[in-house]
Amino acid sequence: MRPLLIFGASRGVGLELAALERAAGRPVAVLLRPASEAGPLQEIGAQVLRGDVLSRPDIEQALASFPGSFDVVSTLSGRGEDGRLADDEGNINVIEAVKASGRAGRFILVTSMGCGDMAPYRSERAIAAFGAVVDAKTRAEDRLKETDLDWTILRPGGLVSEPPTSNGLLTQNPRVHGFIHRADVASLAFRVLRDSATSRQAFAAVDRNRMNCDTAVDPFPLA
Ligand SMILES: NC(=O)c1ccc[n+]([C@@H]2O[C@H](COP(=O)([O-])OP(=O)(O)OC[C@H]3O[C@@H](n4cnc5c(N)ncnc54)[C@H](OP(=O)(O)O)[C@@H]3O)[C@@H](O)[C@H]2O)c1
Repeated sequence: MRPLLIFGASRGVGLELAALERAAGRPVAVLLRPASEAGPLQEIGAQVLRGDVLSRPDIEQALASFPGSFDVVSTLSGRGEDGRLADDEGNINVIEAVKASGRAGRFILVTSMGCGDMAPYRSERAIAAFGAVVDAKTRAEDRLKETDLDWTILRPGGLVSEPPTSNGLLTQNPRVHGFIHRADVASLAFRVLRDSATSRQAFAAVDRNRMNCDTAVDPFPLA
């Protein structure tokens, strides 16, 4: 398989996905900020590149370390010291550098429930707590959708750090709310990378036993 480059792999969904892909024998590279912990990634045989996604040259240098085509997953989130967000600016830097490379296969962007067409169904409480970050992620989604990249957007519900349940599902119902374990988001991303039917579509990702919705939820039939 093509190598997989993960942005945001120092912890959470990105780290879980790196472990799944390495266990499947796939070459994995990660871009980590200089101060981020690399030990767990090195132990599973991932190639660790250093850089900051708020710097476009750092991303270009990372892409230059792959001679051929590659797939990309971004789970980026967070603020730089000067307040700039990886959620919009960082992701947009990655999207534009990857597009300019002309060598990308699949591009999976992990954003959040509440992005894009899910925005009208956010609660006042959710808007107050993380509306600005969700709006930043929507700006990254919008930039990705403008490209000709082979993208899929995953919008998880509230994330839980517990062992996988295998109850994660993808749906295009914008009214769904709920929670999902980080490990289950990673395994959905693993399957999405291998399922061309998910190409150029956005999905909410939620645990079927921890979701609520006032209309029927049709799970997407992942291969
Ligand atoms: N928390 C929730 O309930 C929730 C709900 C829905 C969606 N989400 C979203 O789902 C995704 C996965 O969440 P998660 O909790 O598993 O992961 P996370 O803790 O949000 O991880 C974010 C990653 O982005 C990296 N990062 C931040 N700024 C960076 C920069 N300037 N350059 C390079 N890397 C940078 C972080 O690395 P460092 O080690 O350098 O900080 C970290 O690896 C995120 O986008 C998150 O916002 C979260």
